[in-house]
Amino acid sequence: MSLANSIPNPKNLQGLILRGFTHPYSCHLLFGFSNGDVTKNFFSDIFDKIQSAEDWGNQKPKSMINIGLTFGGIKKLSVIDENDLNNFAGTFINGPSAAAAQQSLGDWYDPNSKPETWWNGNTEAQVNLDCVVHVYGLTKDDLDKLVSDISTSANKNKLTEYYALKDDKRLYQSILGDDPSKIHFGYVDGISNPSLKNSGFSGLASPEDINNFVIGYGNNSISNPGPFDESSAANFAKDGCYNAFRIFHQDVNTFNQFLKTQAKKYSTKLSFLGLNETELEEWFAAKLCGRWRNGSPIMLNPNKPSDSNERNIKAENFGFEELTKQIPEDVLKKFPSKASESSGSICPFSAHTRVANPRNQQLNTAREGTSGPPRILRRGMAYGPDLTSSKDDGKERGLIGLFLCGNLTTQFELLYGWMNFNDFSQPPVFSTVKTPQDALLGNRYYADANNAVKSFIIPVKDPNNKSVDITIPELPSFLAIRGTAYCLLPSISTLAKIAGKK
Ligand code: HEM
Repeated sequence: MSLANSIPNPKNLQGLILRGFTHPYSCHLLFGFSNGDVTKNFFSDIFDKIQSAEDWGNQKPKSMINIGLTFGGIKKLSVIDENDLNNFAGTFINGPSAAAAQQSLGDWYDPNSKPETWWNGNTEAQVNLDCVVHVYGLTKDDLDKLVSDISTSANKNKLTEYYALKDDKRLYQSILGDDPSKIHFGYVDGISNPSLKNSGFSGLASPEDINNFVIGYGNNSISNPGPFDESSAANFAKDGCYNAFRIFHQDVNTFNQFLKTQAKKYSTKLSFLGLNETELEEWFAAKLCGRWRNGSPIMLNPNKPSDSNERNIKAENFGFEELTKQIPEDVLKKFPSKASESSGSICPFSAHTRVANPRNQQLNTAREGTSGPPRILRRGMAYGPDLTSSKDDGKERGLIGLFLCGNLTTQFELLYGWMNFNDFSQPPVFSTVKTPQDALLGNRYYADANNAVKSFIIPVKDPNNKSVDITIPELPSFLAIRGTAYCLLPSISTLAKIAGKK
């Protein structure tokens, strides 16, 4: 491979790969193809709206799309030599409902999440979902106009639209309160993402390197995104990226009640914290996630959230491993990345962000290798209305999850497996006898079936440095899965070929 093509060209990548779109309106359309030839007209109709990763300067496009294709969709398009189709990884070919994927995702254990229930129980969609079109608009009108154009072309070209939610509802992004980065459960999201460095030829890449996300540069990365060979499948996939598209129903009422119950139950035991019950609810929310709900990391703000407008680079710059106690305060102030601990008394080991990115925490290197935790790019958003009452209102709400990676097995599924079964670190970080789960994400049915424990330990020290740990015996299920598709976000040049454009 020549030096010139060792780094992907943004003009040939779909935009979502390099940046999260901050358009406040989006809709995510699901389609099945009838046959390849008519479908190509659909791609021809919508091609001009596909947004690349090239910088758009000051002029944000009013509306735009990115497109993902499942393996089934690629097959139907008949654009790859049939003999080469198997050059794609089995994880992509077989999809998220296959047994191998379910070992990590664990949906099949949960009656509310199992693959047979996905896409509102539509068995045709479960088999024939070929393509997801992510549509973005600056205004609701911009979005609606483009959704309507796409829908018209889809009808004309005999695509079948599928719906993710009950009553055939489309997946529209919602803005909760006045903060577009807020998700249900009340957290700010979209803070920590890999910084996508270019490695070029400067040696083996870090997990954050762009070549771990973009297909075709495998000799320069850890994840080896493929297919990476001379086949027509590799040509088709080059400069693409995989997207694990996963829709999470969030049970906000259960979550809210859980926080209230814990705050009440432990208010006396934790009275030395000087927090009232509402503040204590926030404390429990922070311990579950590893960040306060306003986004500030508990590692840097152990006792209370920082000012809500603190969303700067420092909010990502911390670790978990060294002992804070050993670091002088003036050094800590200057170098917050040194603020870290290995006892879990600031950030519990099973807090969501600690599991999803254990940073410098020591992994079980014999099993997990030495390259550090895998990284993924998160481009998701909330759907469904805010829960405003103190009871369940029966409305559908949750997260539209877009998890981008170059290798679905060694990035997305590996991390997901960690969330269901926290065994990735060396003991004593995780006990070998009792394996916990990610406090927010863990699938509790998976725990029952695989001997993980549903308890959550929050190590706490009182003012005399005495341990007064809290053990919540059984975390509830906060989530259910409404559907999952493994898609390839192909390059612009590949999409142009499908669309018959030069
Ligand atoms: C409904 C489901 C989910 C919820 C409510 C949720 C919530 C959050 C929140 C509040 C944050 C902190 C804000 C931030 O750093 O941007 C976060 C971070 C993160 N989440 Fe999730 N998440 C969900 C699903 C997932 C899944 C399925 C994965 C991976 C497969 C994942 C991986 C991550 C990662 C890697 C981070 C960044 C951690 C860091 O670098 O500090 N999340 N999530």
